[in-house]
Amino acid sequence: TAGKHLVVVSNRQPYRHEFEGDDDEVVVDRPTGGLTAGLDPVMQSAGGTWVAWGDGGADPQVADADDCVAVPPEDPAYTLRRLWLDEETVDGYYYGYSNRGLWPLCHSALTKTRFSQEYWERYRTVNERFADAVAEQCSGDRPWVWFQDYHLALAPRHVRESGNEDAVLAHFWHIPWPGPDVYRSCPQREELLDGLLANDLFGVHIDRYRENFLDCVEEILPTAIVDRQRSVVHYEGGETRVRSFPMGVDADRIASGATSDEASAFWESFAADNRLDGSDRQVVLGVDRLDYAKGILERFDALEHLWANNPEWRGRFTYVQKGSETRTGIRDYREYQSRIGEAVDRLNDRFGTDDWQPVVALTEMLSEPALAGLYRNADVALVSSIRDGMNLVAKEYVAAQVDHDGVLVLSRHAGVHDDPVFAENALTTDPLDTCAFSDTIRTALTLSSADRSRRMRRLRRSVHENDLSAWMDSVFEAMEDIGEHRAGAT
Ligand code: G6P
Repeated sequence: TAGKHLVVVSNRQPYRHEFEGDDDEVVVDRPTGGLTAGLDPVMQSAGGTWVAWGDGGADPQVADADDCVAVPPEDPAYTLRRLWLDEETVDGYYYGYSNRGLWPLCHSALTKTRFSQEYWERYRTVNERFADAVAEQCSGDRPWVWFQDYHLALAPRHVRESGNEDAVLAHFWHIPWPGPDVYRSCPQREELLDGLLANDLFGVHIDRYRENFLDCVEEILPTAIVDRQRSVVHYEGGETRVRSFPMGVDADRIASGATSDEASAFWESFAADNRLDGSDRQVVLGVDRLDYAKGILERFDALEHLWANNPEWRGRFTYVQKGSETRTGIRDYREYQSRIGEAVDRLNDRFGTDDWQPVVALTEMLSEPALAGLYRNADVALVSSIRDGMNLVAKEYVAAQVDHDGVLVLSRHAGVHDDPVFAENALTTDPLDTCAFSDTIRTALTLSSADRSRRMRRLRRSVHENDLSAWMDSVFEAMEDIGEHRAGAT
């Protein structure tokens, strides 16, 4: 990225300024999340601009007249350009079109999917505002613009048409892309594809989503020409390369978190509080945003089945659910989250004894090292997505397994399962088959130490080789190639 003017565009911002106390002291916090945490160092070394929604209720007053603020606060290296959205706009664009429409659609959860004209208008307006902000930040020769995710499908077309014919536009779609049979349920199916095909590069996690995307284009846009061999779409005089880039995690950072003093201190007190220390009781872990796509209720069904049908397994392990509330402005999420609470209580009431609590629910925010400590000490991790773009929790768990003794149970419906190293070295499960899922959990708890170590070593090698920076390098290389190609053509 050296010498390039890079503009990153995402719904979530990398830094949030909040006002606290009576004298409105400004407190800066960094929303967690693989992408914002991973891209921030790149932006710090490359410079450039990051355009994002200024969520979190902060006042525009920390920014200059253009809503720009230099970050990181302690040592400014790039510009954060924020967009302020009022409540109605957030309702329509974020809760509405993005998270009641596109999110369930792309996760093939059609019974939860809702579209409305009002959501759509808000989504369109916000995308235009993002595009205007991006266009203002585009400068120099062939700037690079990198859009993130499903909140911004229309922005690329606006940027392209506002005098940025030369910009290299790339988009990464972090969630699944469904096949045409599902995608056709979207009333704005053509407009969304039209917006995305203004990009030079469209990236998804795995080949299956890439093929789904090409199938949708072929079926829905009669004027588009799909070149399957090159995986390129020709449309409206432009060319979009469609590629898969499986995202990784910052494996070194997670491994060093897992071995830090903070991680051990957290684990020791957590284990003591929950009577996990000093016994040979095993720990099974789930870490999720509390989202219906993650198959959390299905996981509780499998655990209930296991303890109900195999009483000898009661007391032998504790299930720890680390959950973060998410998108609570949407009824489906509120209901899902309260059903999770009910499942936790049900299992504890049904199976709990004086010295054993079957399920421990952990809702507090954990620091990165504390979470890494939890991962490191979990004997088994359960990833049971019904649908999932990639699922970085699976990779984080592996990265934190510095002792190579844990087992990953992995849904075949998480994108990460399309990686053969994961398919072969995790224990595959189908979360919708309760009985089989429960058997897989038992198998995981009884694997020999040699088997666990062999599997985990292979997984760890792969997670280190294909880490977050390797992912970014491959996206940037593809952008570089497009830039050179264009320079050669003019
Ligand atoms: C998924 C999406 C991201 C999103 C994240 C958290 O991973 O792909 O774009 O930021 O969930 O969801 P939220 O709605 O809180 O941003």
